[in-house]
Amino acid sequence: MTMKQHTTKVSGARGAEKARVPSAFDGIAATYDLLTGMNPGYSKHLRWSAERLAAPAEGRILDLCCGTGLSTRAVVDAYPRATVVGLDASEGMLAKARRKPALAGVEFVLGDATDPVAAGVTGPFDAILMAYGIRNVPEPDRCIDNLFALLRPGGTLCFHEYSVAEQRRTQLLWNVVASTVIIPGGMLTARSTDIYKYLRQSVNEFDGVRVFERRLRAHGFVDVHTEPMDGWQRGIVHSFLARRP
Ligand SMILES: C[S@@+](CC[C@H](N)C(=O)[O-])C[C@H]1O[C@@H](n2cnc3c(N)ncnc32)[C@H](O)[C@@H]1O
Repeated sequence: MTMKQHTTKVSGARGAEKARVPSAFDGIAATYDLLTGMNPGYSKHLRWSAERLAAPAEGRILDLCCGTGLSTRAVVDAYPRATVVGLDASEGMLAKARRKPALAGVEFVLGDATDPVAAGVTGPFDAILMAYGIRNVPEPDRCIDNLFALLRPGGTLCFHEYSVAEQRRTQLLWNVVASTVIIPGGMLTARSTDIYKYLRQSVNEFDGVRVFERRLRAHGFVDVHTEPMDGWQRGIVHSFLARRP
């Protein structure tokens, strides 16, 4: 996959490239858990986002862009009695998730996160987690509308996502970490850097925190707020939380 460098916003002209992201993940599925395992705080932060959903213990929870199931594991650990559905568009990533014994009770679905209903996933859900997903979908506004419709009234949504556009310091730190740790780590583990270069660029282009919060309010969500991570991810990775009224 060749990801050319552009400077348009997430909702802009990069749609065709973003549509190729799931097939790029097929190529790194085998080494994804190895590289994320070297990232301090990765699983702990997913768990924080899952807990911040404050979903009912026996609720129905959707993990969108579930990948190899690391975010799904966070949901299952936080809500062991919940009914959990995971969706991803990469067969390779899903195959890894399906093989994990801890996720045996999860229903995994192959499909596009922009329109989960088209993939056969029907609501209502008590909560939806989308970790490192909204930045990658070609039509984020259509996706957000569809997620609103999938939630029951009062249901909660968490986008666990990078956002650095509004602070020069965190933007600089992100680019240092991506260039000196993540991209070389991708080369060492997956023998490829394309998707990790795309990661650096797509994070740089993604909405700032206030802009993304405004985007969620414009789609009808209430109680929109952002909670932080710790470690090097502070100010870089966030839980964007919202509730359907
Ligand atoms: C960085 S991984 C995150 C996986 C998991 N949520 C985690 O936290 O480890 C991003 C995932 O989003 C998936 N993805 C990207 N675009 C997608 C789309 N339009 N529909 C469904 N999945 C998509 C990729 O296949 C990949 O598995």
